[in-house]
This record gives sequence, C-alpha cells and structure tokens, in this order.
Amino acid sequence: MRLNQCQNFHDFRRMARQRLPGPIFNYIDGAADDETTYRRNTEAFEACDLVPDVLRGVAQVDMSVTVMGQKLAMPVYCSPTALQRLFHHDGERAVAAAAGKFGTMFGVSSLGTVSLEEARKISGGPQVYQFYFHKDRGLNRDMMVRAKAAGVQVMMLTVDSITGGNRERDKRTGFAIPFRLNLAGIAQFAAKPAWALNYVTHERFRLPQLDGHVYMGGGAMSISRYFTDMLDPAMSWDDVADMVRQWGGQFCLKGIMSVEDAKRAVDIGCTGIVLSNHGGRQLDGSRSAFDQLAEIVDAVGDRIDVMMDGGVQRGTHVLKALALGAKAVGLGRYYLFPLGAAGQPGVERALDLMRIEIERAMKLMGCKTVAELQRRHLRFR
Ligand SMILES: Cc1cc2nc3c(=O)[nH]c(=O)nc-3n(C[C@H](O)[C@H](O)[C@H](O)COP(=O)(O)O)c2cc1C
Repeated sequence: MRLNQCQNFHDFRRMARQRLPGPIFNYIDGAADDETTYRRNTEAFEACDLVPDVLRGVAQVDMSVTVMGQKLAMPVYCSPTALQRLFHHDGERAVAAAAGKFGTMFGVSSLGTVSLEEARKISGGPQVYQFYFHKDRGLNRDMMVRAKAAGVQVMMLTVDSITGGNRERDKRTGFAIPFRLNLAGIAQFAAKPAWALNYVTHERFRLPQLDGHVYMGGGAMSISRYFTDMLDPAMSWDDVADMVRQWGGQFCLKGIMSVEDAKRAVDIGCTGIVLSNHGGRQLDGSRSAFDQLAEIVDAVGDRIDVMMDGGVQRGTHVLKALALGAKAVGLGRYYLFPLGAAGQPGVERALDLMRIEIERAMKLMGCKTVAELQRRHLRFR
C-alpha cells in the first residue's frame, strides 16, 4: 500500500502494520485488558445519528474554533503521545511540523522523544505540554518552569495514569523501553529490517523531557518502572491546585470522566478538561468520552472548555462531539498510524483528509460555523 492510496484511518493502520515491527505496531494499536473500552470509543459515535439541515447557503464554511485561548484553524488537535521516534525516525518533529501547517495545536508528551523546546520551534502553532505528576515535586516545578521558558501556551496534566494500564499485547511481545524483547518479539523486529536500519542509523533514542531522571543507556529505569517508581499515586486535588496557581495560565486536566471531578477542576481554576479514557489504554470498562460528554457539558460547559478524545476516526465523529458541546477534539492513533506509515507526509495527508471530511460534513449538515452545530442535529439510537 502507498501513501497516496490511503483514504482513511483503516488504510493508514494497514500501512503502519506493514512497515512497523509487530511489538511497536501493537504498542500503538493495543489497549488495556480485553480492550473493551478501546472498541467502545469508536462504537459510541456509531450509536448516534446525524440529522442534517438543508438549503442553508453553505458555500463557505468556517471550521475554526477557539479553545483554552488558542485559535485553531480546525476543531481537532494532535493529542500528546509518547515515544514517537519509535514509530518514525522524525517522531515529534514530523507531527509538530504537520500540526503547524494545518494551524492546529500539538501536544508534546513528557515521554516525548524530541525536546519540548525543539518541538515548540518547529510547530509554530499553539503548543501543549503534557506531563505526569512525579513524586519528586522539584521535577514537577522544573518542568513547568522549562515549559514556560519554551513558550508553551497550555499545560496539560494527565490524571488517568497514576499507574500503568494492563497492556497484555505489550506483555506478550516484551515491548518495553529499554527493549526487553522475548524471542517472538525479536523475530518480529527481524522481519522489518528497513525499520531497524532506519532506527540504528538515526540519532540515539532519548527522552529529553526527563533527561537526568530516566536513564535509558544503562537500562536503569524502564518506562513501566517510570510509572510505578516515579509517578505519585498519592496525587490529590490540593497538589494540582498548587500547580495551577504556579503555572498562572491555561491549565487543563486530561482524563476527567465524572461530573464531580469536572466541577472540582473548575473550582481549582483549571481552564480546560479533556474527557478521555486514554484511548482505552488505562481502565478497561471505562465509559467512552463521547457517551459522557453531554452530562459534563451540561454541568460545567459554561465555566470551562470541555474537550474530548478517544476513537475519533472520521470527520463526522468530530461533528458529533462538537454538536454535543465539545470545544475541540483530540486525535491519537488517527495521526500515529500515518506517522508510522510515512512520517510527516503521512501525518499531513491524514490531517488533510480530516479537514476535507469536516468541511464536507459541515456542508452536508447545513452548518457554516461550528457554533451552528447543535444537539438538535443528533439522535441517539
Ligand atoms: C501510543 C500511544 C501513546 C500515548 N501516550 C500518551 C502520553 O504520553 N500521555 C498522554 O497523556 N496520553 C497518551 N496517549 C493517549 C492519547 O493522548 C489520547 O488520549 C488517545 O490516544 C485518544 O484515543 P485514540 O487513540 O483512540 O484517538 C497515548 C496514546 C497512544 C495510542
């Protein structure tokens, strides 16, 4: 399969599967336990029908949105994801450049493989820095100081990952950083020599956000140990309130699901929340963000920007979330498979297809602006 033949998420996924060693493909594609929530995330959109208006004079469509003070040319953004240089040697550089070209926001993960400073320079668009809460409070403070100095506009604290999810596919292949592959895993790497050649001929793999804290070379600390040893499961609302105060700007919590927590996020001064179950990678059985969206928007939508992610594969999925009241929608695997398949041109093609789909769907729905998309345009089965 070639890039210009890819028409949708499924084509990119197929192409990524052809190119990537099995353990890496499965790290992206996999989720927790029985992967019920992962499947449910996309199914949730399919249980909701669109009811279009016609004859609304939709020659020009404006799909821009403003979220957490950032104007986005399209209502989707690239949600922060870890380890991107394993998927393609350009990693975050490719995604930052593509997001910048499409005028949208790009999230760098604290487990990113390119420094937040470099990503900031490349993207040009608004940038999110996603971080986890460490036991080492000094490290938490340093990260915020560093992000501020780099010109990051939005801090995003992920609150659904105080411990790692049970990713059984990774256990089966032995996927870990540093690699601890079992025989089956090694055989799968050997089957993709082009990926391996690329990997060894490019710069050494690093986690620049955690330099000096997670040592890759000597194998002193693996990613799963990072979650268990360095992150603080005792994190509380008071701790987060302190961070929100210290940052003094746009601050959002990623992984909020309950109305109660959404209200608390408002109370401590957050400016945004992302309803998310981490793409089904953490708590299997968790409700889909789309199913939970209306309840949260009704409770806090007039006081905080509500975003959502999980299972988004189509422009019509984005429209459904916007019609329920989301301010913007996060993409995860939707851009990761194209990254793995073809690097920056892959991500650009995926974002372009998404842009075209959103524009077409808005016209077919009779909506010239995102604000015109409303709940009356939806029916749940
Ligand atoms: C391979 C992979 C790595 C991820 N890494 C992170 C991360 O470092 N931090 C984070 O907050 N979310 C991370 N996520 C979750 C995404 O930001 C997003 O919530 C999720 O992918 C949305 O679901 P979707 O992939 O179905 O679109 C990751 C997701 C994937 C697939």
